[in-house]
Amino acid sequence: MPSKTVNGAAIAYIEKGSGQPLVLLHGFPLDGRIFDAQIDRLSKSYRVIAPDLRGFGRSINHQPFTIASLADDIRALLASIDALPCALAGLSMGGYVALAFIKKHPLDVRSLILIDTRAAGDTAEGKAGRMKMVEQLHSSGSKAIAREMMPKMLAEKTVKENPAVVQKLRQIMESCPPPTIAHALLAMRDREDYTDLLPSIASPTLIIVGQADPITPPSFAQAMHEAIDNSELVEIANASHISTMDRPGEVSDAIESFLKNQ
Ligand code: MLT
Repeated sequence: MPSKTVNGAAIAYIEKGSGQPLVLLHGFPLDGRIFDAQIDRLSKSYRVIAPDLRGFGRSINHQPFTIASLADDIRALLASIDALPCALAGLSMGGYVALAFIKKHPLDVRSLILIDTRAAGDTAEGKAGRMKMVEQLHSSGSKAIAREMMPKMLAEKTVKENPAVVQKLRQIMESCPPPTIAHALLAMRDREDYTDLLPSIASPTLIIVGQADPITPPSFAQAMHEAIDNSELVEIANASHISTMDRPGEVSDAIESFLKNQ
């Protein structure tokens, strides 16, 4: 797996295929492997780049970060491998990073794909929840965080019918280093509210949401769709928060048919 040192951190990334760059940003507490199926499929038509954000996966680093600094890392990485402008996709926390990126560098984003994410910042209750999770992390470790989040991540159908996917996601979550989990919780707590940015987004935008996503439900996706003029919304049946693993084929189909029309 290649890696580039940017802003003082080695960022590891998967790169496959050729053509227009398509960048996939993972959520929390995850890494680029949540996009394995999309990487395989979409690399037949695109140059797919799936980084592990600073501190996650193979981008080992224990320095604190913000959502905006993660976006700066990705911009520096993409500039260094000549992958701009790009189609930029982000799932959940990756969507927050994508919004921070497009706010600062709108011309570098040929098209935007927001998956199981939201534009609004944390509510007071949400911020308190982050702090509770930090305490839980310190008292009980990464596995306790994975155990708490797991029931919200995958659809019932996947849990019943696809134990290998459940096992893979659990392993990804449990392997996230505790310092990274703590930094990410604080970064998400303190992130900007991007609601006011949405009407200014000129890049064609695809919004994907799992119909059963309890973390960033379809109503959040609908609100982003209404606020971004040039946007399409695709709801995925039998998918929860990690729709890329619940219904990998449907998510790839949605991305492929959206990009084909750009
Ligand atoms: C994620 O999947 O990235 C997180 O659940 C997002 C969040 O907690 O806000």
